[in-house]
Amino acid sequence: MRSHYCGELRASHIGQTVELCGWAHRRRDHGGVIFIDLRDRDGLTQVVIDPDTAETFATAERVRSEFVLRVRGLVRERPAGTVNPNLPTGEIEVLGKELEIINRSETPPFQLDDEHVAEEHRLRYRYIDLRRPEMFARLKLRSEVTRELRRFLDDNGFLDVETPILTRATPEGARDYLVPSRTHPGEFFALPQSPQLFKQLLMVAGIDRYYQIVRCFRDEDLRADRQPEFTQLDIETAFLDEEAIMGLMERMIRQLFSTTLGTELPDPFPRMSWHESMSRFGCDRPDLRIPLELVDVGDVMKSVDFKVFAAPANDPKGRVAALRVPAGGRLSRKEIDDYTAFVAIYGAKGLAYIKVNERAKGRDGLQSPILKFLPDEAVEAILARSGAEDGDLIFFGADRATVVNEALGALRVKLGHDLGLVEAGWRPLWVVDFPMFEWDEKESRWFALHHPFTAPREADVAQLANDPGACLSRAYDLVLNGTEVGGGSIRIHREAVQEQVFRILGIDHDEAVEKFGFLLDALKYGCPPHGGLAFGLDRLVMLMTGAGSIRDVMAFPKTQSASCLLTQAPSPVDDRQLRELNIRLRAQAQS
Ligand code: AMO
Ligand code: AMP
Repeated sequence: MRSHYCGELRASHIGQTVELCGWAHRRRDHGGVIFIDLRDRDGLTQVVIDPDTAETFATAERVRSEFVLRVRGLVRERPAGTVNPNLPTGEIEVLGKELEIINRSETPPFQLDDEHVAEEHRLRYRYIDLRRPEMFARLKLRSEVTRELRRFLDDNGFLDVETPILTRATPEGARDYLVPSRTHPGEFFALPQSPQLFKQLLMVAGIDRYYQIVRCFRDEDLRADRQPEFTQLDIETAFLDEEAIMGLMERMIRQLFSTTLGTELPDPFPRMSWHESMSRFGCDRPDLRIPLELVDVGDVMKSVDFKVFAAPANDPKGRVAALRVPAGGRLSRKEIDDYTAFVAIYGAKGLAYIKVNERAKGRDGLQSPILKFLPDEAVEAILARSGAEDGDLIFFGADRATVVNEALGALRVKLGHDLGLVEAGWRPLWVVDFPMFEWDEKESRWFALHHPFTAPREADVAQLANDPGACLSRAYDLVLNGTEVGGGSIRIHREAVQEQVFRILGIDHDEAVEKFGFLLDALKYGCPPHGGLAFGLDRLVMLMTGAGSIRDVMAFPKTQSASCLLTQAPSPVDDRQLRELNIRLRAQAQS
C-alpha cells in the first residue's frame, strides 16, 4: 500500500511520486490550502492538498485527528522560508494528488504531543499512547537490546531453553501468583518468580550454557522499578566460577552498550564488597554518580554527653554516621526541616547537623544544635573524616545500623539530585561478598540474602553450623547508576550443603523434601558445579532509554495496584468457572 515510510523522505526524493500510509497527526487549513501532517512509526511528513484537485480537497476537508489515510503525491521542495529544521523531513513536502480515508477515528482522548496526560489515561488508551514517537523509540531500543543480547549469547555457546510457567512455588522472596488446577481440585500451580530451579536442573542435564528471555511473576509491593510480571534475561552455566561468569557478563553488557548506544563502559567493571557498600553508601546498590559518602564516627561518640549518639555508639547493632554535603551550608532551616521529615520516612528520629562556616576558627566557626554535646576530639574527628571544608554541612544519623543506613542512604541520593551533584555517565559496579544470611529480628530467624540455593564461600562451609551470620556467599549483583540490574551466584551443588542451608533457614528435612525434593534428588545424580545470574531486562532498558519507570519500557504494564487499565484485568469470573475450579468465594461459602 505504500512506497515509503513518512519519516523517510528527504531532499533526495524531490521529484518522485510516493505513496504513504499513516495517521493524520494534525490538519491545518491555510487560505484555501490544507496541510496534513501524516505520521507513522518512522516520523512525520507534511502533505499539502490544494483546491485544484477538487475531489481530493473535499476528502481532505473531512480528515480529523488520527484518521488513517493513504496519500499518493509528489515530493517537492518546501517554498523558501517554510523549511522546518526541527523535522527530519523538514526540507520537503508531499503535494497530495490522491487521498483515501482508510478509517476514521473518534476524537482521541488526548493529543499525542501533550506531555501532561495522566498516566491512568495513557494506560487506558495504551494503543494511542504507544503512537507517541518516544514510546516507539523505547520499544525499538528494547527490541535491539534483546537482539544484541541473543546474538552475544548465541556466539558464546548458550542455548535458549524454555521452562514452565505453570509450576511450583520458587522461593525468590515475594508472594506467589497462584493458578487453580481444575483437574486436581484444591491444588494450585504457582507462576514462577524466576526459573531458578529449572535452570539448575538444566545444568544437571548437561546443557552447560543456558539462557532465556523469560517472564517472571512476583506479587509484591510495586514501585517505579518493580512490576508484578517482568522480564529477566536468565542465564546459567556449568563449570565456570564467579570470575569467569562476571567476566563474560561484563563483556556482554559492554558490547550491548557499545552496539546499541555507542557508549563505552569501563573495562573492567569495578567491584566492591557488600560491607564496604553498606558502610560508604548505606545500601547495596550505590549510585556512584553521586559524590557523597557516609563515614563512621561512632568510636568517638561512645562517651559523649548526648544519649542520641552515645547509645547507638555503644550498641553493637547501632551506628553513628556522618554525611558531608559540599556547600550545604547554604541550606535553609526550612530545607533542613524538610530533609528531617524525609529521613523520618525511613524511621530516623532526627537529623542532627553541623554547618562548617569557617574551619580555621575552631568551634566558633561551626554552627549546630548539638555542638554543645560534643567534645573537641569528637568534633575534630568528624571534620577530619568527612573532609569538610568551609561552607559545607554535615548531617548525622544515629540509630540501629539498619535505620541509619536506610535513612542516610536515601538522603544521600535525594541530596545528590536536589543539589545537582549527580555526575553524567554510566557507573556500573559489581557488589560481591554478600553475607549468606540476614537475621530477621521480627521473625527471629535467618533469611537468605540472595536465595537458598546460593553457595557459601568454600572457606566458610565449615562454620555454617556454628556461625551462619559470619558466612559470606558466592553471590554477585550488578548495579548500574544506583539500580540493581542483575544478580546471581554460584549454586550449591552438593546435597549435604544444600540440606544444611535449608536447616539454617528453618526448613526441616520433611519440608525440604516436600518443597524441593526434585532438586535434592537431582543433586544426587551427578550435578556439576554451576552458577549464573539474571538481569532485569525492563530495568536495563529503562536506564538505557532514560525512562523514569519500567512502565515506560513495557508495551502493556500494570498500575501500582497491579491491575491492567486497558483490559480491566483482574476481573471477576462467572460462577460456572469457579465451580469447575472448585473455588467458592467467601461470600458464597458463608451463605
Ligand atoms: P533476582 O530476584 O535478584 O534474582 O532478580 C534478578 C533481577 O530481576 C530484576 N527484578 C525485577 N524487575 C522488575 N520488577 C520486579 N518485580 C523485579 N524483581 C527483580 C532485578 C533483579 O536484579 N533467580 C535469581 C537470579 C539468579 O540467582 O540467577 C533471581 O531471580 O533487576
Ligand atoms: P533533640 O535533643 O531531640 O532536640 O535533638 C538534637 C538534634 O539531634 C536535632 O537536630 C535532631 O534532629 C537530632 N537528632 C535526634 N535524634 C537523632 C538521631 N537518631 N539521629 C540523628 N540526629 C538526631
